[in-house]
Amino acid sequence: MLGIDISPSSVKVVELEPGQKAPMRLRRYAIEPIARGAITDGNVDQPEQVAESLNRALRRVGTRTRAVAMAMPTSAVITKKITLPAGLSEDEYEVQVESEAIQYIPFAIEEVNLDFQVLGPSAGSEDDVDVLLAASRKEKVEDRVAVAEMCGLQPVVMDIDSYAAREVLAHVARALPNGGHGEVIALFDVGSMVTTVAMTLNGQTIFEREQTFGGMQLTQEIVRAYGLMPEEAEVRKKAGDLPEDYALQVLQPFIESGVADVSRALQFFFTSTPYTRVDRICLAGGACVVPGFAEAVAERTGVATAILNPFGGMELGAAVREKQLGVDAPALLTACGLAMRRFDA
Ligand SMILES: Nc1ncnc2c1ncn2[C@@H]1O[C@H](COP(=O)(O)OP(=O)(O)OP(=O)(O)O)[C@@H](O)[C@H]1O
Ligand SMILES: [Mg+2]
Repeated sequence: MLGIDISPSSVKVVELEPGQKAPMRLRRYAIEPIARGAITDGNVDQPEQVAESLNRALRRVGTRTRAVAMAMPTSAVITKKITLPAGLSEDEYEVQVESEAIQYIPFAIEEVNLDFQVLGPSAGSEDDVDVLLAASRKEKVEDRVAVAEMCGLQPVVMDIDSYAAREVLAHVARALPNGGHGEVIALFDVGSMVTTVAMTLNGQTIFEREQTFGGMQLTQEIVRAYGLMPEEAEVRKKAGDLPEDYALQVLQPFIESGVADVSRALQFFFTSTPYTRVDRICLAGGACVVPGFAEAVAERTGVATAILNPFGGMELGAAVREKQLGVDAPALLTACGLAMRRFDA
């Protein structure tokens, strides 16, 4: 099964396979840009354009695998934990979930895709179980499925992107001292338009928030400062191929605004939850790799900060170029979490 992340700026494909020594090996991956405007606010507005990018990515990955795991944007999914009697059959749960869901979903039930998972015994009562329900507009799910099908793929898993990210964090946390147990870990996924913030403790999400900060802002500043076309600005930003005053005049202010955003998120976390500390900051998303960002976050917050490598502890396939992966890996957070689904029991 392939992991496919269709995000506003690009399509990302990751293929993991069983390794020789480690449980997982990154066989290959690809990141292909999506035409501007093809995806807006998480909606697939131009499926053909997105399919074209996906096809390019698939060719680069060069795989015969057709089964894929995809994800919905977190903002397009309503999730709710409910309590139901224990010991029902799958069909009985389905009926119960549907009747409960009607209370939480602001659309007609025929218009949504509804899914659920029994989480386990309820803390409140022995006779009950906690059930997680997830609902999304059918058309939004179908738009993504259609893109995959246009490329001859077969979607078998539809996840939620923040859940896929959490899967990766759990995998990486296992390598921390004491398995990261008892640590409040903050994950900042700094994308093109938004930064998704998630605080976790012992694998549970204790705080989640989205902020409008991302790499697109830096591209726009480059456009403004040097009169470039956005596409060229984007390429030169990644290559670091910009005039001498760039670091001081453009990059530095961008980093400062990013760091201010990070500390605002921490303040918000402290004031709106009982928690008073963060033990570790993990940075991910394509935009976190700009030179000096991680260092600036560490300095301002005083918290141990590192760029997250989703493939930490994995073997690398012969076709993977390690140096390029170092730059690309943080952006592959969601795609990696999705690709890991093939190892689910
Ligand atoms: N090597 C690099 N140097 C600087 N910026 C980079 C680099 N690689 C990617 N980026 C930036 O990262 C951003 C894309 O990151 P990512 O792929 O995580 O976002 P996304 O998931 O498409 O968008 P979002 O999370 O906002 O929905 C873009 O703004 C891109 O310019
Ligand atoms: Mg993203």
